Amino acid sequence: MLHTTLCDLLGIQAPIIQAGMSRRTSASLTTAVSNAGGLGSLGGWERSPDEMAKELSKIRELTDKPFAVNYVVPDINEESFKLTLEARPAVISFALGDPGEHVKRAHDIGSLVMHQVTTVQQAYQAAERGVDIIIAQGGEAGGIGGAVAAFPLIPQVVDAVGVIPVVAAGGIVDGRGLAAALLLGAVGVNLGTRFLATLEAPIDDDWKRAIVEGGSELSVKMDGWAHAKVTEEYQTSLRVLRTDFIDRWNQQADDGSEEATLRGEFKPDIVGRLVPVAGESAGLIKDILPAADIVRNMAAEAEKVLKVAGQYLK
Ligand SMILES: Cc1cc2nc3c(=O)[nH]c(=O)nc-3n(C[C@H](O)[C@H](O)[C@H](O)COP(=O)(O)O)c2cc1C
Repeated sequence: MLHTTLCDLLGIQAPIIQAGMSRRTSASLTTAVSNAGGLGSLGGWERSPDEMAKELSKIRELTDKPFAVNYVVPDINEESFKLTLEARPAVISFALGDPGEHVKRAHDIGSLVMHQVTTVQQAYQAAERGVDIIIAQGGEAGGIGGAVAAFPLIPQVVDAVGVIPVVAAGGIVDGRGLAAALLLGAVGVNLGTRFLATLEAPIDDDWKRAIVEGGSELSVKMDGWAHAKVTEEYQTSLRVLRTDFIDRWNQQADDGSEEATLRGEFKPDIVGRLVPVAGESAGLIKDILPAADIVRNMAAEAEKVLKVAGQYLK
């Protein structure tokens, strides 16, 4: 049976986390993953307090299993965060900034803290802040990410943070990716793009289809992307699937076109049809599945792959 220290720490069966992806997650997706033995996450970014209250109460109706609530540090809605603390999720996760005082606030109500980083320096800072789990996110990841690829980043973060468990993110969709992450020293994986192509993900079918049909080479960085609230230190770029809109955007539009006026000022409402956010893992995703199947198939496949790996030892 596949079992890592992450399973013990979080009280889950498979070391698989569905990433917090702002309003592209829902109680239905989160609980499908948690009920299948992984850790589902509800994204807090861009979610109003009303909506947060509704989703949290739905989660409580649909599962008694551990789940996470995710925030991006530079844009935390204090009212939603307070509702999250009242709900006492097993995990509160952060990204895109120094988690600072939020670590203590989460610990005070008994939640574990998981923080996502894209560089070794950010990992050292997270360790100093006392986080319980660090996610090392490679530059092939969907969404906002750094520049360093997962293969070189994960072992560096593992070496840097010592006893703190490290979870791998970026480009992982199946049991092979999970097994490889474990061999690099991670104790689990955090998946975004794979869980967008699920029946439960609350995004348009066009976006899901773009992921299923998109090859890895279609996943590109959106040039000149900036979010006013993300600090310089964490300022990264957005990885999306190419569309005509993205091509025009990346051609340094300086001609007064719609793209030019949007550059440098990210508007969440263009995400989806014009800006289908997805990582390089899109090339490995061939179907839209129930989220629970992903957790179960991945754990079973990783077990097989790790057994095969043992055969290389003579
Ligand atoms: C549509 C989308 C939205 C995302 N939003 C967030 C977010 O709000 N908070 C966060 O910590 N990570 C976010 N991420 C990044 C994920 O946490 C994760 O690192 C990434 O998806 C892993 O790479 P993968 O997409 O190749 O699986 C997002 C990813 C995607 C694809």
